[in-house]
Amino acid sequence: MRFGMFVLAAVLSLVAVGQEYVPTAENLQSRREFADMRFGIFLHWGLYSTFAQGEWYMQNAGIPYAEYSKAASGFYPARFDAAQWVAAIKASGAGYITITTRHHEGFSMWHTAQSDYNIVDATPFGRDILRELADECHRQGVRLHFYYSHLDWAREDYPMGRTGRRCGKDPAKADWPAYYAFMNAQLTELLTNYGPIGAIWFDGWWDHDSDATPFDWQLDEQYALIHRLQPACLVGNNHHFAPNPGEDIQIFERDLPGENSAGFVDAAAEVSRLPLETCQTMNGMWGYKVVDQDYKSTKELIHYLVNTAGKGANLLLNIGPQPNGELPATALARLREIGEWMQVYGSTIRGTEAGDIAVQPWGATTRRGDHLFVHILNYASREIYLPLQCKVLDATLFVDGMAVKVTPTAEGVVLTLPAVPTAIDTVVELRTK
Ligand code: GLC
Repeated sequence: MRFGMFVLAAVLSLVAVGQEYVPTAENLQSRREFADMRFGIFLHWGLYSTFAQGEWYMQNAGIPYAEYSKAASGFYPARFDAAQWVAAIKASGAGYITITTRHHEGFSMWHTAQSDYNIVDATPFGRDILRELADECHRQGVRLHFYYSHLDWAREDYPMGRTGRRCGKDPAKADWPAYYAFMNAQLTELLTNYGPIGAIWFDGWWDHDSDATPFDWQLDEQYALIHRLQPACLVGNNHHFAPNPGEDIQIFERDLPGENSAGFVDAAAEVSRLPLETCQTMNGMWGYKVVDQDYKSTKELIHYLVNTAGKGANLLLNIGPQPNGELPATALARLREIGEWMQVYGSTIRGTEAGDIAVQPWGATTRRGDHLFVHILNYASREIYLPLQCKVLDATLFVDGMAVKVTPTAEGVVLTLPAVPTAIDTVVELRTK
């Protein structure tokens, strides 16, 4: 009896320990490396690209799976070249790629054994694009992250939430245990067959945010599976709330951390102490949309990157590859131009933390050790006042080392620039104490 009680107590304490997430040393190291990169490229590519209407087309147009899935037999991205994609992305200064492995439409972009509805078995193309991308990323030294949708508009076993209601599914066939097992089997493939994966980026939690009874996604067990398969793999979830146990990064959709301009973030979601990542589109849509040529300028994108770094966060900047397998020409041009800028200024972004002064209308600050980088983005005067607690030893223009005059004031310094700033980002480097 006493032994039985002991066993029970031991089991209960194990359960309790199991619930408390303690990141491993590899995971903590991986978080640091993630934060140091500061810049990654998001790729939304799936069967949806063939319709060229963005990744929500199936739901928005109310297309039943039986019709939608016919597109697979015509999906032939003849110009897909993983080496070119990775090279162009690497040259932009980005350190990682996050690609949609299976988006809400339910089509898998790798050779999964869990469903025939995948790029190898269901298309004439027949190539495992994740394999090719993973090999190239590893070859070229770019980290690979996988986006994975929790919700699914195609599978009957996924218990429908507030989206996908016009996609022809029979709600009576919902079978959560089967769907959960399917997801975990897919995640196991993704984390076993494609080498080291930097992160799993979940999306779709919000599909059940209006349920009368709170929906249990069984995240703990799923996150534990990921950490067991690859302890260094970071878990992120685009649920728009404060992070859950088991999550290693905090994601912000179309917003700088702490802002809620896009209306996605829960008002109570605080900025946590986890590494932060803001995802943003280059144009208006995530997946390729043929009419969407509304690209942000290179200057706007660089300003966004600088402001993100100034908040101590990474920028995950999206591109929607075309149905023919190419990255859109405008996106390639943006990558090139950001890359030229990063060649010069990358070290004021990568490996930095948020600077001493919060992001301002005039710009942002980043810090590495005793170097404070003042990024002047929008400012039409030679003199700029910086409220600072630290002592400024000297100040130079980052680009050419030209001295910048520093005048101490009661609560900071005034910098006098050689000229009114006109560059995309006039960076002043302060040595501080
Ligand atoms: C939203 C959208 C999804 C997109 C994601 C990227 O959750 O539903 O289509 O992939 O944002 O942040």
